[in-house]
Amino acid sequence: MQLERIRNISLRDKVMSAEQASEFIKDGMTVGMSGFTRAGEAKAVPKALAERCKQQPIKINLMTGASLGNDLDKILTESGSLARRMPFQVDTTLRKAINNGEVMFIDQHLSEMVEQLRNHQLTRPDVAIIEAVAITEEGHIVPTTSVGNSASFAVFAEKVIVEINTLHSDKLEGLHDIYIPSYRPSRTPLPLEKVDDRIGCTAIPIPPEKIVGIVFTSTPDSYSTVSDPDAETAAIAGHLVRFLKDEVAQGRLPKNLGPLQAGIGNIANAVMMGLLDSDFEDLTMYSEVLQDSTFDLIDAGKLRFASGCSVILSERMNSKVFDNIEAYQDKLVLRPQEMSNHPEIVRRLGIIAVNTALEFDLYGNVNSTHVCGTKMMNGIGGSGDFARNANMSIFVTKSIAKNGAISSVVPMVSHVDHTEHDVDILVTDQGLADLRGLAPRERAVRVIQNCVHPDYRHQLMSYFERACVRGGHTPHLIEEAFSWHVNLEKHGTMHLEHKQSCDSQQ
Ligand code: COA
Repeated sequence: MQLERIRNISLRDKVMSAEQASEFIKDGMTVGMSGFTRAGEAKAVPKALAERCKQQPIKINLMTGASLGNDLDKILTESGSLARRMPFQVDTTLRKAINNGEVMFIDQHLSEMVEQLRNHQLTRPDVAIIEAVAITEEGHIVPTTSVGNSASFAVFAEKVIVEINTLHSDKLEGLHDIYIPSYRPSRTPLPLEKVDDRIGCTAIPIPPEKIVGIVFTSTPDSYSTVSDPDAETAAIAGHLVRFLKDEVAQGRLPKNLGPLQAGIGNIANAVMMGLLDSDFEDLTMYSEVLQDSTFDLIDAGKLRFASGCSVILSERMNSKVFDNIEAYQDKLVLRPQEMSNHPEIVRRLGIIAVNTALEFDLYGNVNSTHVCGTKMMNGIGGSGDFARNANMSIFVTKSIAKNGAISSVVPMVSHVDHTEHDVDILVTDQGLADLRGLAPRERAVRVIQNCVHPDYRHQLMSYFERACVRGGHTPHLIEEAFSWHVNLEKHGTMHLEHKQSCDSQQ
């Protein structure tokens, strides 16, 4: 029964245990593994590798599409096997190791990594480990719930290990659109003109002789940990939906808005949920990760088509979608992340990109990755691929974090992921600032009036007014620009009065 999933009969004698397959991985190797936003990762071989590490220490450079599920980043970190990790993660144990300098983390635009592999700017994987639902007659690999970087890893690696996960329905076959761009500079334009275009094939085309091992597994993907919208995220969604309606009324956006992209996490998911109660119809998505909100919108008849590179769902939504995958076949496609996030396509399609900031400053620079400028949270992910090239680049965040100890709007961001030049609209629970066509001094006033929490509004206005006295196109008090962050580290709050009252007591 299992063997039927290996339709190329000559490959059936490659079946082995995860432990045997892990022996292909040697100390110092670069390993390319499937997995994107905790979906479709190879599961058994990395676990076996971590076990092996306990007896026989080895270090690898691990490349994936994005984050791994089933605690694999934690397990691999604890086993000590990660020397380098790229291009994204969300795991608390790995995060700690990165911030302690124990694992070298390369935080990179998600569309860019395979382009660098193609040009040998990065070391190509020695071994690729790819989760699949089946291997075709030709020996091609049919991925599961994510495509991520799997196709190029398999093409570029010397050896390929396939993990066939029998828990995934073989009906997933047909969902994927595997297109691999040719080499530059003779590459022709990418032939994708519409969200629902299919331009590639349904399986990863590699010579079957590259497959050195096949392992059967039946471990499910991790469920999404995204929480339901709360008052703040619902308020953010409300501001954004009103703004989008107005853009349509003004004739600046088509009635169905054009293709939408939504970032990872609670806030982006809640914003998409906000569209459920709106009048918008015939919506489409050209995004990276497809979360619960995508399928809620499809089920409500609001979303006509969604293109992504992975699907990660809550327990509630998981069986609803994957037990009825045929019902979604004509509404869904999964592509390599190089295609889902490709700047050429993002610009061509006129995407509305909604991504989340940790903090932004009064001029519109955005920090999505570094807490207080030094500690890595997750990584930039695909947010830069979209923000830079979108028709409209929107960043959302709650106006305050950690019960008000942190203002998400600060004088100067402590790390820059998206510069003011790539940011059009900022939204918090307090309101929305449309920065298009505004000079820095105008931007600052709009951001302070519309986005800052009332507890911090006076403090930020005071900073801005005093900076304006000193002058400049983008006024700043350089010696004070990070005082909010310094105060947070010293006194646990960005409220400067707290510092003054502490200082006066000393
Ligand atoms: N300083 C420190 N911590 C902050 C903060 C700030 N300015 N703003 C938020 N946080 C904390 C929150 O308190 C929360 O902490 P907790 O997990 O201990 O509760 C955590 O960051 C996550 O915040 P939350 O409000 O739940 O937002 P989220 O789940 O939507 O995640 C990002 C927000 C920015 C971390 C997440 O979207 C991300 O990693 N983005 C970068 C990558 C990206 O955009 N990818 C998508 C491209 S398609």
